Amino acid sequence: MDLPNEFCERMKLLVGDEYDEFIKSYDTKINQGIRINTSKCADKEKVLSALPVLGQVEWCKDGYYADKSKLSGNHPYHAAGVFYFQEPSAMTVAEGLPLSDDPHILDLCAAPGGKTTHIAARMNGRGVLISNEIITKRAKILSENVERMGLSSTLVTNESPSRLAEKFPSYFDGIIVDAPCSGEGMFRKEPQAVDEWSIEHTLSCAVRQKNILDDAYKMLKQGGYIMYSTCTFSFDENEKVAQYMAEKYNMEICEIPCLSMLSGGIGDFANIEKCRRVFPHKNMGEGHFAVLLKKTENTENNKAFSKKKLKKSAKPDTSLNDAIKLYRDFEKNALNTELDGKFVLFGDTLYLMPEEIDIEKLRVIRCGLQLGTIKKNRFEPAHALSHALSKECFKNSVSFDINSDEIKKYMHGDIISGTANGWCAVCADDYVIGWGKASGGQIKNHYPKGLRTV
Ligand SMILES: C[S@@+](CC[C@H](N)C(=O)[O-])C[C@H]1O[C@@H](n2cnc3c(N)ncnc32)[C@H](O)[C@@H]1O
Repeated sequence: MDLPNEFCERMKLLVGDEYDEFIKSYDTKINQGIRINTSKCADKEKVLSALPVLGQVEWCKDGYYADKSKLSGNHPYHAAGVFYFQEPSAMTVAEGLPLSDDPHILDLCAAPGGKTTHIAARMNGRGVLISNEIITKRAKILSENVERMGLSSTLVTNESPSRLAEKFPSYFDGIIVDAPCSGEGMFRKEPQAVDEWSIEHTLSCAVRQKNILDDAYKMLKQGGYIMYSTCTFSFDENEKVAQYMAEKYNMEICEIPCLSMLSGGIGDFANIEKCRRVFPHKNMGEGHFAVLLKKTENTENNKAFSKKKLKKSAKPDTSLNDAIKLYRDFEKNALNTELDGKFVLFGDTLYLMPEEIDIEKLRVIRCGLQLGTIKKNRFEPAHALSHALSKECFKNSVSFDINSDEIKKYMHGDIISGTANGWCAVCADDYVIGWGKASGGQIKNHYPKGLRTV
């Protein structure tokens, strides 16, 4: 592989005697990974036995190497959100963030959603996750992945870090900052990243990373954690940025117990060895960096960071109440579960937020769990609702083998046969793929048009 000379010189300084091994890693194969969504499947072993899995990722409880030539995005388990394609070294980040019993978490640079869907699986319905992406097109892809993985306590926003920082001072217990970076660690996987590389680019990335982290710091509670990560080797974008946060804000660089098998950070700053690096010549993954930073100071009474009071609406909203009633009627007929939370109506779409969150004036793509739409005084369930529930939560469901014609037909958008009645969950084995509406031995297809196979 043709690598820039200046990059090679810098890598010689970084890895020293291991440089030849490091360079040889560019001629070895890329490791493909999947992460099992355990919040969807109680029996992980059963899922693994149905997939072309090659082995466990050492630093991630639910991460596995997989033969991607035998696994595509059209696999019914992928459509059901049972697994997520993820680069193995990227699985370090959400795995290492400490979680409390009722965690309020922000994923600040979240698209396409690898870390969001990982941390949400670990939260398993507890607390609140705000998943943010600054680029609108990417925020929409993030939102689709949030839906597919069945995340019910997650809001997707399309904001700049500074706008969020105004809204959520000292609000979060944990913040993931998987920052935009020079991508040196991805050269083997994405060779086009080499063309964009220059020393100036790594330095400008470092400036941007520090700006993003300044905003993240404002949103963190005292005692809370920022997990900062990049997919680059650059010292300026990694240890230097960690040092910046430790010095500027007196943040503590913490041990990440589940990543103890990885290399430590480089440099002579206090605790810098507690940072973690993935190297492709040492580990089965692309280059990555992670550091866990703890906020030691209280900024809650700091004027610049002061919290705004949540606005309460003055009078009850009748159209919201009507929508809730229609949903409750639907729920009684179609589901075996009663969902709880804060109902919100956006136009004719009803959402359920995990708790009251002030989202006024924010660009919100997904305001919690999308329950459905009010259409001419009746309720039509959203695809997201089918994915947030397990098969047992539906009064009616039909299940087909993953290799069956019925599943292929359903994912293609065709009518299928089945003996349910009314709204029903269509499942591949035990996992819900989407809605159908059954009558007279036939099931009308409600799989979203944009997701159908061609
Ligand atoms: C490394 S990617 C995130 C990958 C994601 N965390 C995942 O696991 O799928 C970095 C993201 O930061 C976003 N970004 C770019 N500039 C930004 C900025 N100034 N502030 C916040 N995010 C930014 C990019 O659009 C990109 O989606």
